[in-house]
Amino acid sequence: MKITSDFLVVGSGIAGLCYALSVADKGSVCLITKREIATTATSLAQGGIAAVASEQDSFDQHIRDTMEAGAWLPDEKIVQMVVENGPEAIADLIEWGVSFSRKQDQSYDLTREGGHSQRRIYHSKDETGKEIERALVAATRAHPNITIYENHVAVDLITEAKVTRRRIKPDRCLGVYVLNQESGKVNTFGAPITVLATGGVGKVYLYTCNPDIATGDGIAMAYRAGATVANMEFMQFHPTTLYHPHAKSFLVSEAVRGEGAILRRGDGTAFMEQYHRLKDLAPRDIVARAIDNEMKTHGDDCVFLDITHEDEAVIKDRFPYIYDTCLSFGIDITKDPIPVVPAAHYLCGGIKVDSWGRTDVTNLFAIGEVACTGLHGANRLASNSLLEGVVYAKRAAERSLELIQEELPPYPSIDLWDTGSARNSDEEVVVAHNWDEIRLCMWNYVGIVRSDKRLVRALRRIQMVQEEITDYYWDFIVTSDLIELRNIATVAELIIRCALRRKESRGLHYTIDHLETDDIHWKRDNLIRKTF
Ligand code: SIN
Repeated sequence: MKITSDFLVVGSGIAGLCYALSVADKGSVCLITKREIATTATSLAQGGIAAVASEQDSFDQHIRDTMEAGAWLPDEKIVQMVVENGPEAIADLIEWGVSFSRKQDQSYDLTREGGHSQRRIYHSKDETGKEIERALVAATRAHPNITIYENHVAVDLITEAKVTRRRIKPDRCLGVYVLNQESGKVNTFGAPITVLATGGVGKVYLYTCNPDIATGDGIAMAYRAGATVANMEFMQFHPTTLYHPHAKSFLVSEAVRGEGAILRRGDGTAFMEQYHRLKDLAPRDIVARAIDNEMKTHGDDCVFLDITHEDEAVIKDRFPYIYDTCLSFGIDITKDPIPVVPAAHYLCGGIKVDSWGRTDVTNLFAIGEVACTGLHGANRLASNSLLEGVVYAKRAAERSLELIQEELPPYPSIDLWDTGSARNSDEEVVVAHNWDEIRLCMWNYVGIVRSDKRLVRALRRIQMVQEEITDYYWDFIVTSDLIELRNIATVAELIIRCALRRKESRGLHYTIDHLETDDIHWKRDNLIRKTF
């Protein structure tokens, strides 16, 4: 089956939905999403969205905090552009129906997180992402020009070079092959403009607070299609996820530290002042590394996040979701310090884009976590990502609307997906085993603290798994598990290869073999592209 539209959006988090809403008045939109529409990383965001809002704050301070957290690797022009668009992004979200928490005097209740020198984070209690997703999904569902395809998994980008079997530079994106999980059929979605808003890659690691959908699909597809990818070594580990056998890496928002919580060892000693002048509000890479070091030095399984000194009613009112969830695991956060460990959280690298969200494949945009815009550099400042999602969605939409006014080159005919001689697999265990192997390998060898030896070992293992996947992929009919496995393997390889190349420690990339930051050779993006 072939389905066409003016705009094709893959992904239904904040970036995908804002983009769809920004173009839908001017053309038809197909929005593809892997599971149910609100099953996104956006929905799980607790902390909030950063934007300058108070008299004490300024764009300059927000820019400086972003540059410092990013270990001076962010592109300052991009940082300035995003920060200056912050107030408008907040206004847009409010216009689309998002409700942020207010104080008694009805002014917005701005919170703080690690690395922020001011209170500038809009939030909806401790479920900001859920509120944003709720409002945007409602607006999207109500728009007559947007057709939503849930339980549809993108398989691969369709490019002009692929369909014409010619070498074309730069190649042009014509759409996406998509697996309908209900019918098991792969459909052809064609559009003059395709937007990847597929989110992150947390599932590449054994422990992650990301949802199960975070398998790096957009990055893997774009890389296979020849797009440039950048800075994959900068995987952010959130310092505080709940340590409990049944909690599946439940995030405990950095806003808890923003409101005064203190990290302690098991014996009650507060330790962050040994690591940074901002103590518990140091940037995230520093806090995660400090916790890792404390756990390894003292042989502990976790550290503790202590907010018990705060008033009980304040805790329950400000963090109802965290309070209820921890209580369901037998931890009353008003009385007990919360056992926490770091877990994979956010990828600062991704598909390299310009300031309009354009990749180097013609008519292919990438927005949100899947993209590497230059905002985050070597480490993302907390709550800058939802902001980036809105700002880039709007910029990509603006550029897309200009593009469809122009006369686009003729559109070649696209072949339908051909299953060839593929058959149904009777060995799902191979897929499950390879999933586990990749995730364990990445956790053990490509985690918070790295070394050349471990990275080389990891690369060897991932490449072996990839060979197996390649054989398996062509022999068997594609399933969502198989598609995701192929993607996490590709993303794992890209992370390792980028990490091996960066011979310095900077931000989230910390290696015991190159402890110094090398501004002369490495104050730059780490670009990687497939050779055909
Ligand atoms: C958090 O609430 O700690 C996560 C916020 C973020 O990652 O920006």
